[in-house]
Amino acid sequence: MKIFLIGFMGSGKTHWGERLARSLRIPFFDLDKEIVDKEGRSIPEIFAESGEEQFRIVEKQLLESLIETQSSMVLSCGGGTPCFFNNIELMKKNGLTVWLNTPVDILMQRLLKEKNERPLLKNMADSEMKAYIVRKLNERRLYYEQADVILEKDNDLSINDFIQNILHV
Ligand code: S3P
Repeated sequence: MKIFLIGFMGSGKTHWGERLARSLRIPFFDLDKEIVDKEGRSIPEIFAESGEEQFRIVEKQLLESLIETQSSMVLSCGGGTPCFFNNIELMKKNGLTVWLNTPVDILMQRLLKEKNERPLLKNMADSEMKAYIVRKLNERRLYYEQADVILEKDNDLSINDFIQNILHV
């Protein structure tokens, strides 16, 4: 079983991914972390030194490699992963895709605190952030909506409810 968690930055992919993998007793991977380990550089460094295009190429290569080498896993993707190349089709073909469709206000609260870790937000004034999230989310919705399962509210779910919602078990 391969489960791909997708959604905007700050939607809770890593938080839920770790818990889900633990409960299902299958390996957990965070695609951003795989990229950082392979490159030996932080994500802001990769963006600054090599550009987003290069980041997307490495992201795709590591996605393909995890799909190929892991028989079961929960993979927490980056916010942009499903929106480049044919990544969303690839994930859907190889497992269950889950979109954490977290409300914009919650994304805002979380991202304001973690802005510096994310190159796409780093130089943005706090006052511009909400408009940016709304616009970017609208661009990306097209990809996120292709997920097999869409979770609208994650905030007060227990891990058992979360599993029930996505696997209907
Ligand atoms: C990105 C999201 C980040 C990371 C990179 C680009 C995006 O991952 O992959 O900074 O394009 O939305 P998280 O969604 O885990 O923050």
